[in-house]
Order: sequence, then structure tokens, then C-alpha cells
Amino acid sequence: MKSCKLCWTISLVLLAAVLGMAYMFLLRGNVVASDDGRTAIVVSSGERDLILTEMRGFLEAVQAITSAIAEEDMPAAAEAARSAGKASVGEVPTSLIGKLPLEFKTLGFETHGLFDDLAKTAETGDGKAVAAGLGDLMLNCTSCHAGYRLLAEPDAN
Ligand code: HEC
Repeated sequence: MKSCKLCWTISLVLLAAVLGMAYMFLLRGNVVASDDGRTAIVVSSGERDLILTEMRGFLEAVQAITSAIAEEDMPAAAEAARSAGKASVGEVPTSLIGKLPLEFKTLGFETHGLFDDLAKTAETGDGKAVAAGLGDLMLNCTSCHAGYRLLAEPDAN
């Protein structure tokens, strides 16, 4: 009986450790408070470059879609939207996945999905619906930027 109590204690300690790691890895991420009121995600400079490269891809897609709407060229709008869709997501290193808070990952992945939806809207040929969809989609850009910033590791305190 005594030894079993010990087993239980060890199991509970291990369970707590696993839950703690799951919380850190899946939910919280590697974050610190930032001076500007946002949450800073602490990443390596290479990981920051990876995220910012993806961001510039987002902006290029938004630019191309906006021009395509003005030119009433819906095939071009669909192609530009598709370029930022789910298929465009490159390999994300596991170490980086662990550093990103769950909300950030969800918002990021959802944004790629919304570009795919926008491509489908563009295929219907309705430019006004594409403009409206782009406006809605960009709420994801603005809300994530309002909440998060990146901090490359050498600057972390
Ligand atoms: C899941 C969160 C998230 C979403 C969604 C998001 N961004 Fe970002 N973006 C960031 C973060 C974090 C930064 C870095 C900001 C900082 O460190 O101050 C950033 C930076 C950028 C930059 C600067 C790139 C550079 O090279 O410095 C651009 C441009 C940008 N985002 C465009 C967009 C656009 C356009 C969208 C929507 C289509 C978007 N982002 C959606 C989180 C996001």
C-alpha cells in the first residue's frame, strides 16, 4: 500500500509536469509583456525573419488583390488571394510552434484560410464582394498587430 501511494505521488507529479509543458507549448507560448502594451513573442532572429517574410507575402497579396479589384480583373484577384492561402504555408519548425501563443497560431492559420475563401469569392466574378471580403479579412491583420509584436532573442531581457 505504502509503495502504491508513492506510485500515485510520482504519477501526479509527472502528470502535473506534462500538463505544465502542454500549457507552455500549446497555449501560452514564449511571451513577455511589451512596453507598448502588446504581448511580445520572444523568438530567434531567424524565426523573426521567417514570420516577417510571411507577413510581406500577406501584404503583397493584399496589394495585388486591391489592384485587381480596381481593374475588374477577377482571375488576377483569385490568383493573388490563392498565393496567400493555406497551400502557401511553408514548413514551420516545431521549436517555433512552441513559442507562438495558441491565439496567434489560430489567427494566423485562419487568415490563410480566409485568403482561400476570398479566391473562391473572386471566382464568382463579384468584385464588390471581393472588396468586402478583403476588408473583413484585414480585421485579422489589424487585430493581431494590435495584440502582438516580436522580440528577437538577443534583445530579450
Ligand atoms: C497571427 C498574427 C498576425 C496576423 C494574422 C497578421 N500579422 Fe502581420 N505581423 C504580425 C507580427 C507579430 C508582426 C511583427 C510586428 C512587430 O514586431 O512590431 C507583423 C508584421 C507585419 C509586417 C511587417 C513586415 C516586415 O518585414 O517588417 C507586415 C507588412 C504585415 N505584418 C502585414 C500583414 C498583413 C497584410 C496581414 C493580413 C493579411 C497580417 N500581417 C496578418 C502578426 C500578424
